Amino acid sequence: MNIVLVGLMGSGKSSVGRILAETLDRPFIDTDQAVEHEAGVSVAELFAREGEAAFRDREAAAVADAAGRPGQVIATGGGAVLRPENRAALRRCGLVFWLDAPPEELLRRAVGQGVEQRPLLAGPDPLERLRSLARNRAEAYAAAAHYRLDTAGRGARAVAEEILAILKESKQTWHSSM
Ligand code: S3P
Repeated sequence: MNIVLVGLMGSGKSSVGRILAETLDRPFIDTDQAVEHEAGVSVAELFAREGEAAFRDREAAAVADAAGRPGQVIATGGGAVLRPENRAALRRCGLVFWLDAPPEELLRRAVGQGVEQRPLLAGPDPLERLRSLARNRAEAYAAAAHYRLDTAGRGARAVAEEILAILKESKQTWHSSM
């Protein structure tokens, strides 16, 4: 079974994912990185050159590819849940965790990581953009995820520990139901 992380930009998917992969000794896959590797250019460059629709096609291919292998930790791009086929593939291939936080905090974290790498936040009001993405995508994240984690005010390690505890619990439940 894979461990899959979904959520908006700045929600900590990559940081939490790396900690989980290291702790559990599993490969770490980041679908944005997979797209960049395949295309040979950055996500920002892809948006500029080919537009968002072409990026989403590449992203869907990366999601399908990652979901086709077991035993990994998979961090997805913030918009990977938008396509129903991506949501279905992610839910089928493992346990899906939605890392959620208020837009103000997401923006602070995204800025800390370099907002220029996030083409969707490039406009004049990135906070309003995050607020509207949060509103528009809440349903898609909820449909994709088995668990929603409130990460407000918490570091990546604390969130990773909560996920590890859930995994332990779900394994026990599974064993005791056999
Ligand atoms: C996007 C999120 C980004 C990246 C692209 C689009 C989105 O990934 O896939 O810029 O639609 O929310 P991160 O969530 O890893 O920043």
